[in-house]
Amino acid sequence: MKAVIHEAYGLPDVLKIREIEKPEVPVDGVLVRVRASSVNIAEWYGMTGLFIARVLGGGLFKPKDTRIGVDFAGVVEAAGKQVSDFKPGDEVYGGRNGAYAEYIAVKNAVARKPTNLTFEEAAAVPTAGITALQGLRDYGKIQPGQKVLIHGASGGVGSFAIQIAKAFGAEVTAVCSTQNVERARSLDADHVIDYAKEDFTRNGQQYDLLFNVNGSRTWSAYKRALKPNAIFVLVGGPRTPLIGPLSLMLQMRVGMLGASQKFAFFIAKFNREDFKTLSALIESGKVKPFVEKTYPMTHIADAMRHLGAGHARGKIVVSMG
Ligand SMILES: NC(=O)c1ccc[n+]([C@@H]2O[C@H](COP(=O)([O-])OP(=O)(O)OC[C@H]3O[C@@H](n4cnc5c(N)ncnc54)[C@H](OP(=O)(O)O)[C@@H]3O)[C@@H](O)[C@H]2O)c1
Repeated sequence: MKAVIHEAYGLPDVLKIREIEKPEVPVDGVLVRVRASSVNIAEWYGMTGLFIARVLGGGLFKPKDTRIGVDFAGVVEAAGKQVSDFKPGDEVYGGRNGAYAEYIAVKNAVARKPTNLTFEEAAAVPTAGITALQGLRDYGKIQPGQKVLIHGASGGVGSFAIQIAKAFGAEVTAVCSTQNVERARSLDADHVIDYAKEDFTRNGQQYDLLFNVNGSRTWSAYKRALKPNAIFVLVGGPRTPLIGPLSLMLQMRVGMLGASQKFAFFIAKFNREDFKTLSALIESGKVKPFVEKTYPMTHIADAMRHLGAGHARGKIVVSMG
């Protein structure tokens, strides 16, 4: 089958399309014919070779696993002997490394595709949607009526976070750049702050939950925007080549020693139940993925460059044809 692989670390030109072996059908999983995928910062880090990931087993000088891509939407080609809940022809979506390929074998991280989405729209959901859901619900402990601020609200995770926070009944403030103000409004944010014109840490407003998707302020700045018992959830931060968002996490941890507010950093984990929760939110119309642009698989390097520029609006999708 055709797949995108990277045999070296580097910028998007290291991505090559090659013929590789089609995966076997797992006895307790399914083989999916991938119709679409999407790009995430995790793939950017994998491609460029974030130092900490290399040291932690990714391969010091070149990637040990040359496959890339995680999010997928497609059609079940074959189901393993022990699988009773999927059959060939079912339309599914999920996440597993190696998704920039014609086929992917997957066990747990797969669920039925929301019926009201195209494959391209469904492929936009897995990483960004699961991250927003788990971050707000499990780490942010979001409650109806709470004031929630989403910093970096217009990219992949942020677009889902606005809608999911609204679905949980929160009063949502979205912080984004001038060009994305209208988009954030269209996603139903109650308040939108253009970070080029207003400093949300100095306008006198305080929040129960601050969901930091992409900003990089100091702890003393963030603290001004937090109520005394607020929760600060760090989803991501600046792309430093050595340890990525972990540098911001360390600064936050040190800065907030002794503070009354709680701090959470997490790595999203795929599971079928959360895909089902997302599907229900999507089918009810409360959440809708926003695809900024779709690239064919042959233009995967362009898709990655688009994401790498740091100002994606919603999700960038890759069509497998
Ligand atoms: N913890 C986890 O499990 C997990 C999972 C997935 C992603 N992440 C992290 O989440 C972050 C976002 O991922 P994503 O997929 O949403 O990325 P993305 O789609 O590339 O997000 C780009 C958005 O970030 C905003 N942005 C860039 N610089 C900003 C700044 N200085 N202040 C405020 N906003 C800024 C941009 O909005 P404007 O153009 O409006 O500035 C852009 O819309 C990344 O750091 C990623 O590593 C973490």
